[in-house]
Amino acid sequence: MAEPMAQELLARMQAHLNLERQSAAFYLASAIWHDERELAGFAEHLHRRSQQHQNHSAAIADYLISRGQTVELDAIEPPPQDLTTVEAVIAEVFRRETDVTTSVLQLYSNADRDLDQRSTVVLDPMVDRQRESEHQSAYLLGRVKFAANQPDALMIIDAELRNEEAKAVKLTR
Ligand SMILES: [Fe+2]
Repeated sequence: MAEPMAQELLARMQAHLNLERQSAAFYLASAIWHDERELAGFAEHLHRRSQQHQNHSAAIADYLISRGQTVELDAIEPPPQDLTTVEAVIAEVFRRETDVTTSVLQLYSNADRDLDQRSTVVLDPMVDRQRESEHQSAYLLGRVKFAANQPDALMIIDAELRNEEAKAVKLTR
C-alpha cells in the first residue's frame, strides 16, 4: 500500500519519465554522430549526458513504484536525420534540455498545488540538477556558436569536453 497520487500528477510523472528516456536516446544518437566524425570529446560528453538522463528516468520509475504505481513506458522516437553540423546538433541538445526543464518545473508546481510533499521532496534535487544541466548546455552552445563550425575551433572545444573542462564558470566559492 502507498499514499494515493492525484491523477494529473501521475500522468505528468509518467510523461516526464518518458521525456527523460527520449532525451537519453537523443543524447546517445548525438554521441554516435560525433564519434563517427572523430570528435571523441563531444561523443564522451554526450554519452555521459545520455546515461544521466537514463538515470533520471530510473529515479522517477523508482519513485512511482514506491507510490504503488505501474510505470508505463512509451515507444522511443528515432533521432532527427536533418542535423548536419555540430552547431545544429548542440542547438537541438539545448532545445531538448529546455523542454526537460519545463516538464520538471511543471511537475513540481503540480505536486506543490496538490500538497503532495512526498513528491516535492523527491523533485527538489531533480529541479536543481536540471536547471544546472540547462545552464551547462547553454554554455556549450554558446562556445560552439562562437566556433562557427570551424574545425580548429571545434577541436579545442572537443579537447575541453574530453577533459570535462568545458564548463561555465561559478563565481561562488
Ligand atoms: Fe534528465
